[in-house]
Order: sequence, then structure tokens, then C-alpha cells
Amino acid sequence: MRYSKYSTVIIGSGIAGLYAALKIEQQVKLPDGLLLITKSKLGESNSRYAQGGIVGVMKENRADSTASHISDTIKAGAGLSDFNAVKYISEHSDEVIKDLLKFGVEFDRDENNNLCFTREAAHSVRRILHSGGDATGKMIEQALCKKVKENENIDIYEETDAVELIVSSNECKGVLVYNDEKMEYETIYSPAIILATGGIGQLYKYTTNPAGATGDGIAIAYNAGAVMQDMEFVQFHPTALAIDCGENRFLISEAVRGEGAKLCDADGVEFMSKYDERKELAPRDIVTRAIFNEMKEHNSDNVYLNASCINSTMLKKRFPNIYAKCLENGIDISHDFIPVAPAAHYYMGGVKTNLQGETSIKGLYAIGETASTGLHGGNRLASNSLLECVVCAYSVAKYLKSLELKTPKQIDEKIMSILDRYSNEDLILDELNIPELKKQLQDIMWNDVGILRDEHSLMTAITELKKLKNNFPRTYKCLNREEYEFRNMLITSMLITNSALTRKESRGAHCRTDYPETLDNCVHSITDKTHGVFDFVK
Ligand code: FAD
Ligand code: SIN
Repeated sequence: MRYSKYSTVIIGSGIAGLYAALKIEQQVKLPDGLLLITKSKLGESNSRYAQGGIVGVMKENRADSTASHISDTIKAGAGLSDFNAVKYISEHSDEVIKDLLKFGVEFDRDENNNLCFTREAAHSVRRILHSGGDATGKMIEQALCKKVKENENIDIYEETDAVELIVSSNECKGVLVYNDEKMEYETIYSPAIILATGGIGQLYKYTTNPAGATGDGIAIAYNAGAVMQDMEFVQFHPTALAIDCGENRFLISEAVRGEGAKLCDADGVEFMSKYDERKELAPRDIVTRAIFNEMKEHNSDNVYLNASCINSTMLKKRFPNIYAKCLENGIDISHDFIPVAPAAHYYMGGVKTNLQGETSIKGLYAIGETASTGLHGGNRLASNSLLECVVCAYSVAKYLKSLELKTPKQIDEKIMSILDRYSNEDLILDELNIPELKKQLQDIMWNDVGILRDEHSLMTAITELKKLKNNFPRTYKCLNREEYEFRNMLITSMLITNSALTRKESRGAHCRTDYPETLDNCVHSITDKTHGVFDFVK
């Protein structure tokens, strides 16, 4: 096995990981250098597909204020958002957006060169900045990737999966990685490991998330003993294009509703006023359940979005990618109805962190969608995720600047025993049908741990997930990336299901049909290995 050492290792090259790399390189003393690892190629991540935009609470936007953004975020969060997290992230929005501009991100501007602000559901004012019309994630990611590639102080490993954290006496001392192309392991020692590994959408049959969103960071942090928060809170986006084309479903941005599009049935009858006075612009969990209910009542696989009421020149200019993707599928959105249905989209739960990205394990940090800072509570407000990615990347860099980053020297017995698992463990070399196992897991999660849950469905899911585990004879070492991802999906699915079973109320995106009430006593759910029901690893 190869060994190396770095002062800081960032795992994940979405917007959180890329921006953290740039800010850490700018500010932190790194005697042993900085390494960015990604299991994909640089530039492939959830971030790349973000459409609607990023919250910009900008000083020059007179209509807006941090007080208003804080209030909207807390209302959408169904009572579970942490005020301090919301305040901190909102108050840093202006500063990080201006920094992104300096890094070369070009947000869309009007004819007078002023930033354009759009509106999305549950925002009381226009405050969403966008880029390339509906290609905000790609535009931000490309600008940051360019800077990272140009920076010779940032080493990059592509096609490399973090498979286990090296933790001894509750201190993270490094990470074990696997290169899927060379089929080689490497141990990297470091005093600061930052997880920026994104979300979990691929746990579900229908998702807007690309293939890599398999909950890896969450599973390896859990295995290492980190505390997890609010694992039951999965956000389902109301309007994914209800046409299957590959591993995920294409998103029809909430911003289309923000610009005036209406939800309707096949006959064009609008239905949102039956569910909420804010209609199409009600919080996501409400719109999702409304659509789900309409689909059930009409025994249909989708409802429709009618964007023909938006000026067609504006529609094509503002949403060029959505327009083109729908046209590819035979739908001209300037006059045809768009078939849409909910899909798993975002994860509010994750590795519990404070605002500096610190987890419960010394030397282990988490930022972006993998982390749970408490910002989103039970239901994320649109476009707050990209904002959280950049603000938390900024703040972890600021925190690391205050530390002396010394690479750990002591290799104790615990560390040796972790590494032994990967050098000596004999694998049962049976060919496993991972695509089939993955499909079964996605069906279980969609049917039983989805938009609506109850005790019976959750208990069924636990039984079925345990059966899947029995058909997967791996604990630590796996044969390839596909197997590592499945291992991580199983662990994360079990954690979500168990937390969903434990929360006996409905709140935000967690809707229990057997416990429809929202309790007055609002608490985060916390779990770790000592409380897990799942003995995947001891
Ligand atoms: P990601 O961008 O998902 O990056 C994770 C990275 O980690 C990837 O590079 C991946 O390869 C790597 N990785 C994962 N596991 C491993 C491992 N084991 N080893 C090594 N590397 C690993 N949010 C908004 O605020 N506004 C929007 O408009 C918006 N639109 C969206 C549209 C779509 C279609 C989707 C899917 C999401 C959208 N979101 C939006 C949510 C937002 O894009 C994500 O929450 C955010 O981009 C997450 O960024 P991240 O850096 O945390 O993770
Ligand atoms: C969208 O464009 O609808 C997605 C925005 C988000 O997830 O924040």
C-alpha cells in the first residue's frame, strides 16, 4: 500500500470542496500541502446540475434584508432550523457572493449591468442570483474548477474514492482511498480531513441527483463513530421531468414556477389553491405532497406544469437548458404541458457539524450537503444549499487558519488494525449483481421511506434492507467502486429508515401518516454507531 501525508485533505469536488480548496490555499499555512480528492473527474458532482440559483442577500438589493431571509428560512424549516446557523449563513451571503465574483463567476445581469434576482418558492422577495439562465451550478463550478486547476499548490486525485477514515481515540488522522482505475489503495495521513461528498439522492428510485450521490461521506463518517443529525429529513423536489432517461430525472427548476408557471392536471385544471394559499410558491414539502396526492387521486404517474403563460422569448432566454431538454423529449414548453412528478432531491440530514465544519471527531470536518449544520431544519428553502456550501467552506478555511496543522506521526495499533482490513482481508470473490441489488434498495427506499411513511412501511424497509445486507457479503473491503457505493448506500438507507421510525410526528419533509401532528417539543434527532440499529460494522 502507498502512503502519503498532507496538511489538509478535501474529499469531494463539488462547489463546497472546490471553494474550500481555494480559500484554504489562500489563507492557511500548509507545510505538507493540500490535496483534493474526487471519485469522479473534476467537474462532475451534484453542484454541476444546480439550476435555479444561489441566495444572494446583497446589500445593493434594497427590497431584501438578512432579517427577511432569516425569517423565510426559519418558516420553511418547519421549526427545526437553528437560529444561529441561519443568521451566520445569511449574514455572510453578501461577502461570499462578492468573493465568487472575484473568482470569475458571472451571475446574470440586466441591461444596466445590475445583478438579476429571481424568485423561488417560499422566498418573500426576489433574491436568487443565477448564471447562464438555468445553469447556475455549472457556471459556478466551471469558474472554481479553472482556478483550482491553475493553482499549483493544490494536488488533485481524480477517480479516487475515500473508503475509510483513519480514526483512533476519537481523532481523525487520515483517510484510506481507493483508485478505481489503478485498483490501488493509499493511506493519506493528515490532521484535517474535510468531507465535501454531497448528498444521497441515488438511494431513491426517482431522483434528480446524478449517479455519484450515494451518501459515501455520511456512511464513512458514521462507520468512524461521528454523530449524525436529522437523518430522516430527505427533501423531495416537486417537479422533476416525469420521463426516465438514465440514472436520474431531469429537474424542472422551481424558478419556472417563480416566473409564473402553474401546476395542473391533464385537462389544464389548476389544483394548488386547494392545498395552500401560496399555491405554486408554497414550501417544497407542501407542493410535493399536493402533487403526490393528485397523482394518487387521478391514478396517474405525473401531473403537469404549464409554462405557456410565460412570455415565450423570456422563457427560452431565462431557461435555455430546460427548454432544450424538454424539446429533446418532444415537449415545446412555450405551448405544451410538461409532465412532472416529485423526486428525491436534497438531504437535510447528515454529519452533525458546527459552523466551522467541526464534527464530533477531532480533525474531521464536513461541509456542504454531507453536513447538517441546522440551517435547513425539516425542509430546505430553495437555493440555500449553494449558499451554505460556500459560507461553510469559507468558515472552515478561516478556522483552519487559526490552527497549527501538524501531520500525525504516531501510528498506533488501532490504525494498524484499520489498514490491515484492506491488505489482508480475504474477499469472497463471488460475482455480485450490484445493479440488481441497487435497484432493490432504491425501490425499498422509494416505496417505504419516501414522501409518506408510517410504522408499517418503515419496519418493512428495515426487514428488506437487512435481507439485502445478507446478500452482500462485505463489511469493510470491497472489490471495486460499485461495491463501495452500494455498501455506503445500505448504511445510509438504514440510518434514514431508523431515524424516520424514531421520529413520531410529521414535520417538514418527514411526513408520517400514522403521526400527522407536529409536536410542540421540537428536537433534532441525533444518532451514532452506539445507537444505530444496524450492526453493519461493529
Ligand atoms: P456535490 O456537488 O454533490 O459534490 C460532491 C463531490 O464529492 C463530488 O465531486 C463527488 O464525486 C465527490 N465524492 C462523493 N463521494 C466520494 C468519495 N467516497 N470519495 C471521493 N469523492 C467523493 N441548490 C441550490 O442552492 N440551488 C439550486 O439551484 C439547486 N439546484 C439543484 C438542481 C439539481 C438537479 C440538484 C441535483 C441539486 C440542486 N441543488 C441546488 C442542490 C445543490 O446543488 C447541492 O446541494 C450542492 O451542489 C451540493 O454541493 P456539495 O459540494 O456539497 O456536493
Ligand atoms: C431548483 O432550481 O428548483 C432547485 C433549487 C434548489 O434545489 O435549491
